[in-house]
Amino acid sequence: MQDSKVIIALDFSDEKKVMQLCERLDCSKCKLKVGKQLFTKYGPALVDKLQSKGFKIFLDLKFHDIPTTVYKASVEAYKLGVWMLNVHALGGSEMMSAALQARNDVNKESKLIAVSILTSHTNANLAHFGIERREDFAKILARKADDAGLDGIVCSPSDIESIGITKESFMYVTPGIRLGSNKDDHNRTFTPKQAYDLGADYIVVGRPISESNEPLLVLDKILSSFN
Ligand code: C5P
Repeated sequence: MQDSKVIIALDFSDEKKVMQLCERLDCSKCKLKVGKQLFTKYGPALVDKLQSKGFKIFLDLKFHDIPTTVYKASVEAYKLGVWMLNVHALGGSEMMSAALQARNDVNKESKLIAVSILTSHTNANLAHFGIERREDFAKILARKADDAGLDGIVCSPSDIESIGITKESFMYVTPGIRLGSNKDDHNRTFTPKQAYDLGADYIVVGRPISESNEPLLVLDKILSSFN
């Protein structure tokens, strides 16, 4: 079975809506992202429920704490059997290594990626922290993640070229995907094909699917655009 490049962000507040969508989805065509909102409300039980339907889960909790705390939290996350977990690269090399240690201690098959810099940050607000260019900082953070041995980075498709890590095993996971001109709250958006052509290994798609009346059609349209 081919590995699907589409990760659907389940940004719902209600489990019923999650299950209504998931009942219709084919787990060979997509993976699912469970984030802070759903996990805080429904916890591991929801992850179990989705995994029992065959879905691979990206648990998007973006851990950022002292290394010992992140190690212990990551052990618990990996024990759930999730496909992928993430941490903030800003937590530092030691913290990323601690999360990686947790992954290796629990399930070496799972993935660990880092968030480079939140795409909601602009050059203007990063200047308050003495950071001149968002792109340069994203590159530093991505390289730290790679040096720590992580499997990849969450970034904008537009950052992939400047980050410049070209080894096959390093994964670029990119949000900010739109099929049309609607940008919602993103500064810049990319179509699935543009993201793919820029080097994305996985695209995270939320509202274009979760708020559509025809989510399966949208997913199929995205998948066929890669061909
Ligand atoms: O496609 P849509 O804009 O609805 O997707 C938003 C999703 O992407 C959210 O779940 C958000 O947490 C995630 N995201 C992310 N990293 C970013 C930007 C968005 O994981 N830098």
